[in-house]
Amino acid sequence: MSNLIDGRAIAAQIHSETGQRVAALKARGVVPGLVFIRVGEDPASQVYVSMKEKRAEELGFHSQTLVLPETTRQEGLLELIRSLNTDSRWHGILVQAPLPRHMDQAVVFAEVSPAKDVDGFHPLNVGKLMLGDPTGFVPCTPGGVHELLIRSGVTLDGAEVVVLGRGNIVGKPMASILVQKGRHANCTVTVCHSGTCDIAAHCRRADILIAAMGVPEFVKADMVKPGATVIDVGVNRVPHPTSRMGTRLVGDVAFAEVQPKAGLITPNPGGVGPMTIAMLLSNTVRAAGG
Ligand code: GUN
Repeated sequence: MSNLIDGRAIAAQIHSETGQRVAALKARGVVPGLVFIRVGEDPASQVYVSMKEKRAEELGFHSQTLVLPETTRQEGLLELIRSLNTDSRWHGILVQAPLPRHMDQAVVFAEVSPAKDVDGFHPLNVGKLMLGDPTGFVPCTPGGVHELLIRSGVTLDGAEVVVLGRGNIVGKPMASILVQKGRHANCTVTVCHSGTCDIAAHCRRADILIAAMGVPEFVKADMVKPGATVIDVGVNRVPHPTSRMGTRLVGDVAFAEVQPKAGLITPNPGGVGPMTIAMLLSNTVRAAGG
């Protein structure tokens, strides 16, 4: 039997639930609106934002992408965010990261109204997640990993979890979600990072190993406990001279050697990626009151 966690199938299930919530909102005269802001022409961001917008439109959202030039001053971006905060057509606002180097990402994310912060990056929502207050928005990628684990029947209560990476978008919120007291959490969480001594020894204790540090194929078979659940959040472009583009995408897990040892494992692509969009649209429906 396959040990793959099918992120595309689970995301499709969530999209179907979201579609029903959109229909219920529309019956009350509300069309959920999601606006994207992209600054500059980062190729990966172009692809991600257009995928998110396309899916939002398919599910009946009102959606638009605003593109600002790379040279935009930070104050110009903040002014745009303020005007969207007070525009009732938009229930969700997403500022795609990474931003140009002259901008302070934390300042920009803090300008989005917490009520429209469907990315869950505003300090108020970060704080609510830490406090276990369910009225906030949970960041989409770690929220998606949580749903994958729940819907795949992985035991969380009492599980030893190792999160590789301490970024604000995945690692830290992932640890916050899983350490909470309550149903579908209650894990013992270790966060490993570039300052950790003997990462492999921590990994080998994990019932659930979540790789989100952005190092191509870092997790090898000898770092994985037999039967562990392995979640690969990584998206890394590496040189690949024989391919048409000269590069290819790999995760943070050396999939071919880890798969036989894992109990369950996410493929990459087709694992975590589709879940990020599913959680974004689900958050946006909630922001719209659905
Ligand atoms: N860049 C990479 N992941 C994300 C995300 O989840 N949200 C935003 N806004 N930017 C990102």
